[in-house]
Amino acid sequence: KSPSPGRLPAPSPSLSPSPGGYAASDFGGAASDFEEPYIRLGGLADYVEGILRCRRIVFIACGTSFHACLAARATLEEFAAMPVVVELAGDFMDREAPVFRDDTCVFVSQSGETADTLRALEYAKNKGALCVGITNTVGSAISNATHCGVHLNCGYEIGVASTKAYTSQIVALTMVALLLGADRRSMTAKRLDHVRALAALPDAVRGALALDADMRELAAQLKDASDLLFFGRGYNYSTALEAALKAGGRGGGGRRLGGRVKEVALIHSEGINAGEMKHGPLALVDENLPIIVIATMDAMHRKMESVIQQLLARSARLIILCNQARRAGGRGDVPCGGFGAGLWFRAPRLEAPGDVAMDAFAARGCSLIRVPRTVDALQPVVNVVPLQLLSYHLTTLRGFNVDQPRNLAKSVTVT
Ligand code: G6P
Repeated sequence: KSPSPGRLPAPSPSLSPSPGGYAASDFGGAASDFEEPYIRLGGLADYVEGILRCRRIVFIACGTSFHACLAARATLEEFAAMPVVVELAGDFMDREAPVFRDDTCVFVSQSGETADTLRALEYAKNKGALCVGITNTVGSAISNATHCGVHLNCGYEIGVASTKAYTSQIVALTMVALLLGADRRSMTAKRLDHVRALAALPDAVRGALALDADMRELAAQLKDASDLLFFGRGYNYSTALEAALKAGGRGGGGRRLGGRVKEVALIHSEGINAGEMKHGPLALVDENLPIIVIATMDAMHRKMESVIQQLLARSARLIILCNQARRAGGRGDVPCGGFGAGLWFRAPRLEAPGDVAMDAFAARGCSLIRVPRTVDALQPVVNVVPLQLLSYHLTTLRGFNVDQPRNLAKSVTVT
């Protein structure tokens, strides 16, 4: 590895919004092609072998960017077959955590200017690590100081709370994972699924955006709640954290709400790893506290069903975010690429066990938010969209400014 400091290539303005300054066609073959699809990230092309030779990948970020790293960690571990560590930049520097010459440190930042992340970058560079930047801002301090990287190209983000940068970061990190795993023959089929899923992701996100009116209705029901919990697990632990950060609130209602404030809609909210439920959070559960459970059809689905059963046994007030039903003629017959939902195509009349469970939960009084299905790695991109909409409606219904939360800045440039 011989990293040479240099600027990331600027994105071409003619490209569709896709990470890395490369054309949409660089996704590789379309779903109908028989050729092995490929991912091209121009800003990393010369560094892939160096990254693969490293002992581990260390992600360092703040706020929503940190959540995006958590969302993508398992995908990186699986495709790159490397140890992946995710660090909050501030905590990383408080500890002056060990960094080795054969580490790859990846700095993820929408603005590319966050002071803690920048400080961690200088620190890791001094230790001799290969430093990769993933930013949305060409010419930012982080994109200039890293050895190589990827630009999100998702456009200027106006609101203080990061939204489209979050989903774009997960997409970019998924692409990095696919790139790093490109030579693993055992992963060929899965890689193909993921490339197809990336190509179909806009449809799935459109399906999630169509829930806007439902989310407004849900916000009207929740707007007077003093607390809100989000339960997730696996890929969607990050979704729970990010939804709680957003619903936590934007605006100026801290005093009105007795100081229970987080970030955007100013309802006290927490994202909880459902695997930890019995280690404390279960004690909070009663029939009044609204809990949003993320239980889409991924590898954690069975475990999340069990979590829901246990919450219902304590009379919890549940809202379940799940996938559209897969049976023919059901509400689930919305094009979403069919990823992981092969069953739906091959045996359209067969009811999936997960659908039956969700119907049973609805019959017991749970509200369902149904989103399109995609591969597990990208499901957080789809899942967060209705929760962002919920946060938006909660904020406006409570009379706060959705773009400018009290006391917060888009870019935190001082430590
Ligand atoms: C601030 C913003 C957040 C953002 C965080 C990290 O707190 O309000 O929306 O996620 O900074 O910013 P970065 O630009 O490094 O992603």
